[in-house]
Amino acid sequence: MKKIGVMTSGGDSPGMNAAIRAVVRTAVYHNLEVYGICRGYQGIIEGDMYQMLTTDVSNIIQRGGTILKTARSKEFMTEEGMAKAYEQLQAHGIEGLVLIGGDGTFRGANVFFEKYPIPAVGLPGTIDKDLAGTDFTIGFDTAVNTAMEAIDKIRDTADAHNRIFVVEVMGRDAGYIALNSGIACGAEDILIPELKTDMNTIVQGIRDDRRRKKNVQLIVVAEGDDFGGAVDVQKVLNEQVPEVDVRICVLGHIQRGGSPTFADRVLASRLGFAAVNALRAGIYQVMAGQINGAIVLTPFAEVVKQKANIPTDLQAMTYVLTK
Ligand code: F6P
Repeated sequence: MKKIGVMTSGGDSPGMNAAIRAVVRTAVYHNLEVYGICRGYQGIIEGDMYQMLTTDVSNIIQRGGTILKTARSKEFMTEEGMAKAYEQLQAHGIEGLVLIGGDGTFRGANVFFEKYPIPAVGLPGTIDKDLAGTDFTIGFDTAVNTAMEAIDKIRDTADAHNRIFVVEVMGRDAGYIALNSGIACGAEDILIPELKTDMNTIVQGIRDDRRRKKNVQLIVVAEGDDFGGAVDVQKVLNEQVPEVDVRICVLGHIQRGGSPTFADRVLASRLGFAAVNALRAGIYQVMAGQINGAIVLTPFAEVVKQKANIPTDLQAMTYVLTK
């Protein structure tokens, strides 16, 4: 193998740049040519790529976003799109790929590489942490810390006014950001897509808490919760406990940006290094992850089979710690 490509795909996540840096530097160290592919799968289809040298990845380890840009390509989901992508990779002489992305990226990889078996290794880059084969994904730690800092600020003003705040965090299909930021901020209720939301219990809890003069209440809801988002929760509370002042805050894309934490920078560096070494060792169609501190390579097909994996003790703990 002489020439490899690296791309970021799907929603960006803090630490993607640190991962690109690790991939480029490891590859160049081993005398591989590296091409940076812009805008993920769409960039492959359009042949939008350029050679990267070690200097191209200077001064990016601390930056959020991705210098290679990213996209969710609809065209790549079609037979024609995949055929075009394969032609472009052949035309550019790309013999191996490093893919940095989340659930959608690996679903695409699973289909594409089945038909066009180009050696590829993935890195888990998503704030959602909804992939199997790794304890943490690149960007998750930063996103949770961002959400935590924001919710702490909300608590100050909630306390000043004796208000209830419903804070909506990201996670279309996964509640890991909500669960972890909620626990870290001492939220009374945490609503996540993996567990059924019972609004009657939440309303009863608020009434009980008010009776015993607990006046600040934080409810953290994942955007993909089965009951709905912050607006839906606020509507029910306004109807059921009209005596209470309820405000909402949707944190949104603020959670995707910002300088990555040390944990995300180290994880990204380790996994980028491991991905290139896997390619060099002839281990393909796997994602490099970290489980119990060790690097683990998991086949693409397994990575997207992630089942809801919410530890049951956390709910019980949250209940006790907020009483
Ligand atoms: O996949 C990461 C994520 O941030 C999800 O948590 C969120 O639902 C989605 O991306 C938002 O995507 P977009 O930036 O396309 O609105």
